[in-house]
Amino acid sequence: MKDLVGTVEFNRQLAPRYFHIRLRLPEAVGVLSGQFAMLRPQGLVEPILRRALAIHRADADAVEFIYLVLGRGLEALTRVREGENVDVLLPLGNTYPTDAVTLEGRRALLVAGGVGSPALFMLAGDLVAKGADVRVYFGGRTKFDLPALDEFEALGCPVTVTTDDGSAGERGFVTAPLERDLVADAGPNGSVIYTCGPWPMMARVGAIAAERGARCFVSLEASMACGFGICVACVVEVCEGSFAPPFKYQKVCTEGPVFPAEAIVW
Ligand SMILES: Cc1cc2nc3c(=O)[nH]c(=O)nc-3n(C[C@H](O)[C@H](O)[C@H](O)COP(=O)(O)OP(=O)(O)OC[C@H]3O[C@@H](n4cnc5c(N)ncnc54)[C@H](O)[C@@H]3O)c2cc1C
Ligand code: FES
Repeated sequence: MKDLVGTVEFNRQLAPRYFHIRLRLPEAVGVLSGQFAMLRPQGLVEPILRRALAIHRADADAVEFIYLVLGRGLEALTRVREGENVDVLLPLGNTYPTDAVTLEGRRALLVAGGVGSPALFMLAGDLVAKGADVRVYFGGRTKFDLPALDEFEALGCPVTVTTDDGSAGERGFVTAPLERDLVADAGPNGSVIYTCGPWPMMARVGAIAAERGARCFVSLEASMACGFGICVACVVEVCEGSFAPPFKYQKVCTEGPVFPAEAIVW
């Protein structure tokens, strides 16, 4: 984990409330798919806490993020211009287990909901680069809630799009084509599902995976204060594969954000 000052290369609006920012870092940082960072415009006094964002793309000394403004922290980030500085703590969290895809030849099904997509983009790129059989399912409320869809499509793997209102792709929830394809063709060796998005979507994806006997990994987006295990703001209830109490808690920032779906008390 490094506490660095990144310099903004661009910070552009993609859609209403969605932005894409790229930061040049003062030194090279190794980043694994699924890891995240804590960001705050340099010198910002209020709000004091950094905001957690998945690392959407990482080059040797630059990182990119895609963010949806919900409140004051990320709203402040939209005002940072090219050449200005952002405090960035990274890389944080764990990564996705991929041996079942890269070594055992299972198909990778990536299920993104809205701004959950940045947490899956590096994974998609890594798996495609390794020649894996990758399919992306990308759902949003409207056509404006599909951030960086064009970047997923540019990877060359099949991308199925859904929107709740039918303004892009198939009308309905993203879980519908996922379920349909799993029934029709799970691939010769079976599938592994990776998902990030709204909590009910991930819960449903986890349930579909369990019904079909597919492994499933979820990337959780809990509220965070520190991002590195000190404040205990980000705990989730886990059951270690057993759905009987007593449950216990794990920190999303250090034990996650990626967990096996069956470990979470949904
Ligand atoms: C590991 C991780 C990765 C993440 N990756 C991304 C990402 O790539 N892009 C992105 O846009 N967001 C991501 N998030 C979520 C992001 O951190 C929050 O949405 C962000 O902190 C909101 O900041 P804000 O200043 O806009 O709103 P705040 O001022 O923090 O909050 C405004 C309102 O939004 C609610 N809120 C805060 N956080 C969340 C949340 N996670 N889900 C739902 N409601 C929330 C608050 O309760 C409050 O009502 C990630 C979170 C985690 C933990
Ligand atoms: S955010 Fe502080 S312990 Fe996880």
